[in-house]
Amino acid sequence: MRGRFGLGAALAVSACALVVAACGGSSSSSSSGGGGGSSSSSGGVTVTGAKVIDPSSMNSPPKGTIHYCQGKDTTGAGKAVVSEFNQKYAAQGYKVVLTEFPASADQQRAQFIQRQQAKSNDCDVFSSDVIWTAEFASQKWLYDMTPYVNQSRTKYIPAPLETVHYAGKYWGVPETSDAAFLFYRTDKGTAPPATWQAVYQQAAKQGGIVYQGAPYEGLTCDFLELGFAAGGQVLDSSGKKSAFNSPANVKALQLMVDGIKNGAAPKAVTTYMEPETDQAWTSGKYGYMRNWTYAYAADNTSTSKVKGKYKVAPLPAFEGGGKAGILGGHNSVISTYTKNPGLALKFSDFYASPDFQKTLLLKFSQAAVIPDTYSASDVKKAIPYAPELLQALRQAKARPVSPVYPQISQAIYKNVNDALAGRVSPADAIKKASDQINSALSTF
Ligand code: GLC
Repeated sequence: MRGRFGLGAALAVSACALVVAACGGSSSSSSSGGGGGSSSSSGGVTVTGAKVIDPSSMNSPPKGTIHYCQGKDTTGAGKAVVSEFNQKYAAQGYKVVLTEFPASADQQRAQFIQRQQAKSNDCDVFSSDVIWTAEFASQKWLYDMTPYVNQSRTKYIPAPLETVHYAGKYWGVPETSDAAFLFYRTDKGTAPPATWQAVYQQAAKQGGIVYQGAPYEGLTCDFLELGFAAGGQVLDSSGKKSAFNSPANVKALQLMVDGIKNGAAPKAVTTYMEPETDQAWTSGKYGYMRNWTYAYAADNTSTSKVKGKYKVAPLPAFEGGGKAGILGGHNSVISTYTKNPGLALKFSDFYASPDFQKTLLLKFSQAAVIPDTYSASDVKKAIPYAPELLQALRQAKARPVSPVYPQISQAIYKNVNDALAGRVSPADAIKKASDQINSALSTF
């Protein structure tokens, strides 16, 4: 129930404001298709009047302090980037202060929206989830970063770069990309199963599987990984109608619901976000975990009961379907209300620099946005699955690109969570979500 009212209010306001800006879908089509979602791009969307960044402003911006806002720094990468930047530039009078928001993606969004609606400069730079570009750009809360990004477009892996692209412009600088893996216990002598069905069967015998089943953005990702693999979609090819109510999506949800019923997954997953999933996994009790790449390093600490006892595998196939992954990640976006856009750009540029990108992958097992990072020999040693990670990023599906994406996602995660908790049948949950997706789409 955390902040439900605040978030609901924020959603309502932003959905209304979007009516003007958002008609016609997005020009941002993911290189990977989007499970029917990002093909919604019908072009023709324009965002006019945005402030445009001057790339040279980062060379000698006014001295001062800016604030960088991001979700809870579970990995330590946020503290690292800020401290490295400050060490390098303190003598020149530049400083960045880290502001941590909650771990929940939905709450990070709500916190940023509150500040932007108040025209506050609390967050000069915000670590924006890849799914928010369309909404925030349409609201004119972001600097248009096109002149900066155009200077080095080829530097980035295409999929994460595409997540800052909307209405023909670039609205941020990629920070990290993201993909999920199946974590499994090497000390239990198992090989990673080839299908989700087999994962659940094995999990029932080997301590269980933990994942993010709380009603928030993470559950949308966790569900769509199975739903897309089973052949399900979110939107139809026009991007204007729900295609969510399908036998494939019901089958995927049924597998997850059965898993909780028969004890392959603990009922508590219905309350887990990423940190709770890590806590459960590092207790040593479970055989499998679905989590993002960061958990590889984050869960291997001295207090972890699974230290040195696990490996990761790409997500399995859905029996009768195929394989699918969801593209995650974050981008540095610069707030329209910053008083020091040059310093904000200097920091965003530092985050995306080859040196820090390497630190991200090597020390924090976070997905760098520069391809070369993955082939460095020390990286390959520390992150043995680096080639698979790069491959996963290239193949992952984007979530639907829409200014009303948050409402679409809410329809998915609330109803899926209701089914996981046993309050409704999988078929009813999928149908209700589909109706709510259509209502959300009809608001713009
Ligand atoms: C990760 C992903 C992000 C996703 C979130 C959901 O942080 O990078 O894209 O929305 O998890 O919890």
